[in-house]
Amino acid sequence: MNDSVLIEAQNASLEYRDGERVVYAVREVSLRVHRGEFIGIVGPSGSGKSSLLYLLSGLKLPTHGVVRYRGRNYAEASDAERSAMRRERFGFVFQQPYLLGYLTVLENVVVGAPDVRAYRQRALWLLEQLGLGDKAHRYPAALSGGERQRACVARALLMEPEVIFADEPTAALDQQTGLHVLELLEQHRGSGAVVLVTHDPLMLRYCDTVYKLRSGQIEAVERAPAKPVDGSAPPTATL
Ligand SMILES: Nc1ncnc2c1ncn2[C@@H]1O[C@H](COP(=O)(O)OP(=O)(O)OP(=O)(O)O)[C@@H](O)[C@H]1O
Ligand SMILES: [Mg+2]
Repeated sequence: MNDSVLIEAQNASLEYRDGERVVYAVREVSLRVHRGEFIGIVGPSGSGKSSLLYLLSGLKLPTHGVVRYRGRNYAEASDAERSAMRRERFGFVFQQPYLLGYLTVLENVVVGAPDVRAYRQRALWLLEQLGLGDKAHRYPAALSGGERQRACVARALLMEPEVIFADEPTAALDQQTGLHVLELLEQHRGSGAVVLVTHDPLMLRYCDTVYKLRSGQIEAVERAPAKPVDGSAPPTATL
């Protein structure tokens, strides 16, 4: 397997049983996530975007086909091994920012770290970068929705994950704040790859590759032109 391939789905399907009926949430999808790649997944509601994210991150196993992380077939890994992969290698930002209400913002950001004290400084730095430096000691109930969303982004970035999975991370935000959150994600992901699910074509501006889903299948793939090396504005991928 190509060394830069982190995640590979081969003809992966996810079906749900709905009484007698079988619903294909994802149908024979093949794609690769490369090191450092920024991937967008778009498509109408119910087209299988979240389901595809679950497959790529090993949160769910395909009912047909194979998904591998660094060549390791998720289906051959134990639950413990898969959850260790997620904990150590992946970062997640979900549509509904879930933070633990009894922990401060800072505590929420470091809660998953193996050594909380070792990550405290980085957590504070990330919160600072995300404009939450003065709110690190607040409880989530005292934050706005957008601030909670940003706290979740800080948590996802904390351990410099190889892959960040973000499912509609900007859904609750106005366009300007949404773009700002993505800009920060882009700036602070280091060498990590991003898999971003979004409804909003405007949020695709940092994507290298965009997969458009329909009825669980990839309907179109769009690759952005190579990024300029002079640090000027990145190209926008649009469908
Ligand atoms: N637990 C389940 N049981 C049965 N069907 C399900 C289940 N979860 C999802 N589905 C179905 O699978 C399909 C894909 O769902 P999925 O959540 O992946 O879509 P989505 O593209 O993320 O949609 P949205 O944009 O609304 O979040 C939908 O038809 C949905 O109804
Ligand atoms: Mg979804």
